[in-house]
Amino acid sequence: MTAAPETDAGIDPRELRDALGCFATGVCVVTSLGDEGRPVGMTINSFSSVSLDPPLVLWSIGLKAPSRGAFHDHGAFAINIMGAGAKGTTLNFARPSDDKFAGIEWMPGYQGLPVLREALAVLECKVEDQIISGDHEIFIGRVVQIDKNDGDPLLFHRGSFATLGPAV
Ligand SMILES: Cc1cc2nc3c(=O)[nH]c(=O)nc-3n(C[C@H](O)[C@H](O)[C@H](O)COP(=O)(O)O)c2cc1C
Repeated sequence: MTAAPETDAGIDPRELRDALGCFATGVCVVTSLGDEGRPVGMTINSFSSVSLDPPLVLWSIGLKAPSRGAFHDHGAFAINIMGAGAKGTTLNFARPSDDKFAGIEWMPGYQGLPVLREALAVLECKVEDQIISGDHEIFIGRVVQIDKNDGDPLLFHRGSFATLGPAV
């Protein structure tokens, strides 16, 4: 007798990562405030727009990420969309550390949220919804303040950073 196929079986994590890596994204540093107003931040590429009216965006964090508690508990976050020259800063925010903001130029934005001076655009948000799904927690935020500069974006594709090529 043959066992019935399981619907969620047969997905190889490596193959899934490789397929997802075909989707080129921008790169953001999402920031918030932790204990006693301590600035927290981490690099993400799970950012996406959700709705224009009302203005909603989303991003997700791995349940095991050390910074998750701070993001989970604070009711607001800032999405700092990073520019082509910001690979170093982006790598700095992509590893666990108690001192990610050392040497980083930032200023307090909406309710004190850290706004990175190097960011191409910043969307400051109030948390609208938090949903745990699989091994990530999804944050949906309502945009309450926008800052925008000029410049090219930093991109992420197949596990590497990139910049824009010629338009097609
Ligand atoms: C380009 C890039 C995109 C990333 N995107 C995400 C993401 O969307 N969600 C996530 O949880 N981690 C993401 N990470 C990994 C986190 O940046 C990394 O785990 C970081 O250490 C988390 O901060 P923490 O250690 O302070 O929790 C990404 C890393 C890179 C380099």
